Amino acid sequence: MRFGDYQNEIYLSGLGGVLPALPMAYAELAARAESALPPAIWSYVAGGAGDEATQRANEAAFQRWGLYPRMLVGASERDLSVDLFGQRLASPLFLAPVGVIGLCAQDGHGDLATARAAARTGVPMVASTLSVDPLERVADEFGETPGFFQLYTPTDRELAASLVHRAEAAGFKGIVVTLDTWITGWRPRDLATGNFPQLRGHCLANYFSDPVFRARLKQTPEENPGAAVLEWVGLFGNPLTWSDLPWLRSLTRLPLILKGLCHPEDVRRARDAGVDGVYCSNHGGRQANGGLPALDALPGVVEAAEGLPVLFDSGVRSGADAVKALALGATAVGVGRPYAYGLALGGADGIVHVLRSLLAEADLIMAVDGYPSLADLTPDALVRL
Ligand code: FNR
Repeated sequence: MRFGDYQNEIYLSGLGGVLPALPMAYAELAARAESALPPAIWSYVAGGAGDEATQRANEAAFQRWGLYPRMLVGASERDLSVDLFGQRLASPLFLAPVGVIGLCAQDGHGDLATARAAARTGVPMVASTLSVDPLERVADEFGETPGFFQLYTPTDRELAASLVHRAEAAGFKGIVVTLDTWITGWRPRDLATGNFPQLRGHCLANYFSDPVFRARLKQTPEENPGAAVLEWVGLFGNPLTWSDLPWLRSLTRLPLILKGLCHPEDVRRARDAGVDGVYCSNHGGRQANGGLPALDALPGVVEAAEGLPVLFDSGVRSGADAVKALALGATAVGVGRPYAYGLALGGADGIVHVLRSLLAEADLIMAVDGYPSLADLTPDALVRL
């Protein structure tokens, strides 16, 4: 796919006097999303843990690497395609799981819009456990694009198994277990507004539609939503330990990927326990402040993964950022907040625009700098600034 051609479309439309309706620069995307979203949703999405130093560090870390341009390579065709867990993908980008993405859409169905954007771009969605629409409805919108299900492991093992088996039945191609959010990190912006969307009953469709969850209730969630939310509060966060990993592994034959791994020792243990992939992330700085940028953890994770696929996110804001993460060894690169902002401004079209812009920029950097394929992007392409 010639991702860079997106710029030709835009320039040609410009000749006809039609300018892009959606922002071309990340700063403007964020600023316009802030105006478009209700304040509580904006601060939930844009905010992070503590004074957000880790969140800022995630973005700043990319600026400490520079790509070496190589000349006379003739990189007129670029190949960004990648194999991920047996799926051939046109590009190495994916949509990171964002609970409450549902609420970022003007029609309140952002999970479905994200799935539609995945179908249109071939960029896979990792669908969060916390969604407005149940996972089966989300999967219905994937088209030919594979999807992955992100599991927040509940304390009730039977419920965990039910969610995983529903994801299997719905056609998801892998299970991403998020490890860093069994408890909510300290988030001043949300605390200041007393805002935690799930406590208001939002984004709990996967629980409220689940037979195991419903069997635990005296009244249905439709009859008594408050009691259902309280039941959810008691079930949500499971402080898993390494001893739980064989059980998690036994739940599914789908690829199992652990999200939130940053320390090489954790990666080695995960690998020994038989996971299929590791996902290096610090949750976009939303969970624990005072941490290292996820990008700085990436080389150690890649080394310890010893060839297992490494997914990466946290702080990716541009095509250049994606190229740098790939050069540092990521197999696939996740986008978080930027697509939530695209969704807020333009629904599925807004997400498609954000993804196409990221891919076009990455593709054109690879063209200009002489790296025609992902295999050419190695740490040797980078200089530490
Ligand atoms: C998240 N993230 C997240 N991760 C996860 O595993 N399950 C989830 O439900 C959520 N929910 C969520 C909500 C919001 C509003 C945000 C912004 C993020 C974390 C997400 O998958 C990813 O790790 C970060 O968003 C990546 O960082 P950037 O790209 O946002 O900086």
